[in-house]
Amino acid sequence: MKAIVYTKYGSPDVLQLKDVEKPTPKDNQVLVKIHAASTNPADWHLMRAEPFLARLANGLFKPKNTRLGADVAGRVEAVGSNGTQFQVGDDVFGELPLNGLGSFAEYVCVPEELLALKPAKLTFEQAAAVPLAAFTALQGLRDKGQIKPGQKVLINGASGGVGTFAVQIAKALGAAEVTGVCSTRNLELVRSIGADHVIDYTKADFTQNGQQYDLIFDAVGNRSVADFKRALSPNGICAVAGFTTLARLFQVLLLGGKKIGLMATAKANKKDLLVIKELLEAGKVVPVIDRQYPLAETAEAIRYLETGRARGKVVITVVS
Ligand SMILES: NC(=O)c1ccc[n+]([C@@H]2O[C@H](COP(=O)([O-])OP(=O)(O)OC[C@H]3O[C@@H](n4cnc5c(N)ncnc54)[C@H](OP(=O)(O)O)[C@@H]3O)[C@@H](O)[C@H]2O)c1
Repeated sequence: MKAIVYTKYGSPDVLQLKDVEKPTPKDNQVLVKIHAASTNPADWHLMRAEPFLARLANGLFKPKNTRLGADVAGRVEAVGSNGTQFQVGDDVFGELPLNGLGSFAEYVCVPEELLALKPAKLTFEQAAAVPLAAFTALQGLRDKGQIKPGQKVLINGASGGVGTFAVQIAKALGAAEVTGVCSTRNLELVRSIGADHVIDYTKADFTQNGQQYDLIFDAVGNRSVADFKRALSPNGICAVAGFTTLARLFQVLLLGGKKIGLMATAKANKKDLLVIKELLEAGKVVPVIDRQYPLAETAEAIRYLETGRARGKVVITVVS
């Protein structure tokens, strides 16, 4: 089968389309014929081994797992001997575990516990756009952010892969007012997915306008702890999902205190996948797709994602 493989760290040039052996499912896995995948910043962090800490996850000098791609949507082609949850022909979606990445390919084996049936009204591309980014938004808002109905919530980075889910999930979880922070060209997009207010960060600073929020979900990681403190209401919480520099990361870790903190790496799990599936089926969350690339052009897709300008998700189409 065809797969994107990298054997050394570096720019998207290290990504090669190769013929590799088609995998066979273990007892608790199913073999999925991949129809679509999606890219996440984690792919380029692992590809470049940046920040350096990424080497601890996947090899000090060269990648141990030579495959990338976490999000997958496709059709079950075979079921492992202990399989009980899916049948051949089922359409499924989910996020692969860190030690089993490889959705930039024609086939992948996935533990049953990490998959759910694809919502029928979603295309494979839409379904593949969801898992990692939506887990991050859900777990950031609900677990780290302790979101409660009626709250005033601000999403920094509202137009990105994670942010477009965060705006919609915050509304679905009962936020009274959601404010999305994005640049001028994305104001309409962020309004269209349900934000009550939008702030253009090229023209105004949400930490300097006198407004305060019960919950800030930061999907950019470019603000200081002092900025967050100013923009939070007295009992407000700030959940930070990403960081632009290591200095920002360490500042949040060291000075954030109880209320301002880095969320843990989002964890793929069936329970949350079913929560998200329900939101998708109810139409409360609709994936936003910016661009789609064929498998052979995965390097181009990652190159585009790395610009930091994606509007929603960047998807890889494997079967068109
Ligand atoms: N903790 C976790 O488990 C976890 C999981 C997934 C992602 N993350 C992290 O979360 C962050 C976001 O991920 P993502 O998938 O959403 O990335 P992404 O899709 O690449 O984000 C791109 C978006 O960021 C916006 N943006 C860039 N600079 C901005 C600024 N100064 N203010 C507001 N928006 C800005 C861009 O909008 P403009 O073009 O308008 O600037 C663009 O829409 C990354 O740092 C990622 O590593 C963490």
